[in-house]
Amino acid sequence: MGKPIEQIKNEALKALDAASDVEGIKALSSHYLGRKGLVTHFLRNISALPLEKRSAVGKKANEIKKELDKAFQAALIQLQTRVYPAGGRIDVSLPGRTATPGSLHPITQINEEICDIFTGLGFDIAEGPEVETDFYNFEALNIPKDHPARDMQDTFYVSDNIVLRTHTSPVQIRTMENQPPPVRVIVPGKVFRRDSDLTHTPMFHQVEGLLVDENVSFGDLKGTLTTFVHQMFDDRTSLRFRPSFFPFTEPSAEVDILCVMCRGKGCRVCSQTGWLEVLGSGMVHPALFEQVEYDPDRYTGFAFGMGVERIAMLKYGIDDIRKFFENDFRFLAQF
Ligand code: FA5
Ligand code: MG
Repeated sequence: MGKPIEQIKNEALKALDAASDVEGIKALSSHYLGRKGLVTHFLRNISALPLEKRSAVGKKANEIKKELDKAFQAALIQLQTRVYPAGGRIDVSLPGRTATPGSLHPITQINEEICDIFTGLGFDIAEGPEVETDFYNFEALNIPKDHPARDMQDTFYVSDNIVLRTHTSPVQIRTMENQPPPVRVIVPGKVFRRDSDLTHTPMFHQVEGLLVDENVSFGDLKGTLTTFVHQMFDDRTSLRFRPSFFPFTEPSAEVDILCVMCRGKGCRVCSQTGWLEVLGSGMVHPALFEQVEYDPDRYTGFAFGMGVERIAMLKYGIDDIRKFFENDFRFLAQF
């Protein structure tokens, strides 16, 4: 009598599962249920069975025939409704096309976080041009043409006297020129230098801070920056003030944060020092006050300029600053 009907059924369903087009399903249907199909053949041969078996086997075979017929029909309907014929049939049961939502670049996010913390401390936001004159970028900040401090900030010259700004500090001068003291501003923005390695890119972001008033001391600078670091990271984040030099501040200090990559042990990101420099700072040099006609005997102030990418590296544990600008979606989608 050939294969048992259960086996025929299982083979038919398996083949149906693998079929992917209308033609394939129609061919299967005729192979099993057609005039010369396997199920039809089986049913025809039931009369050859011993009498006592016929009724049970026949009943079973008929059920299977119905079941297979139903399965073939269902598969056909499903396939046909997925194809849009000229008449335009739309299968509302198909999943829709999801629009992938975008998100802010990690540097934009950190930039906003920094600005939020300082506006919370009472600072206003100011801005200045990215293409700057030599005067504002250097001269007015007490950096004359042949000053060695220019070497550390080599940049892109548009002409002899026009540069892509190397820091946000020129906005200190622009702000003070435009208003009398007291001043309390932060200045976020893009800056440019001839730099490229694990912790330096030719374009990066700074947030400048400037506070000028009567009786401003280095203690105020320290307190403000420590508060900032504790809010940005957490209360236990170690920072250190390291004596440094800037022509536009006196005294000057650079601030380092304990390297999150090695927890201070020393690694290639922190050049084996255990610390990563995040900003330069100091007390505003009296020469700047003379430049903008503030009374240097009455006013003192502090200023700082922090690297936004450095803060982001520490916050997210990124070991190569250049990753922020490679536009690799697998990297960016994590923020
Ligand atoms: C300055 O740019 C000073 N204008 C900071 C300043 C402002 C001092 C006000 C005093 C008063 P410096 O060159 O160190 O300083 O840069 C400041 C920070 O920018 C660095 O600490 C670092 O975090 C970041 N930075 C500097 N160069 C790069 C670079 N190529 N890529 C990424 N971040 C950088
Ligand atoms: Mg520095």
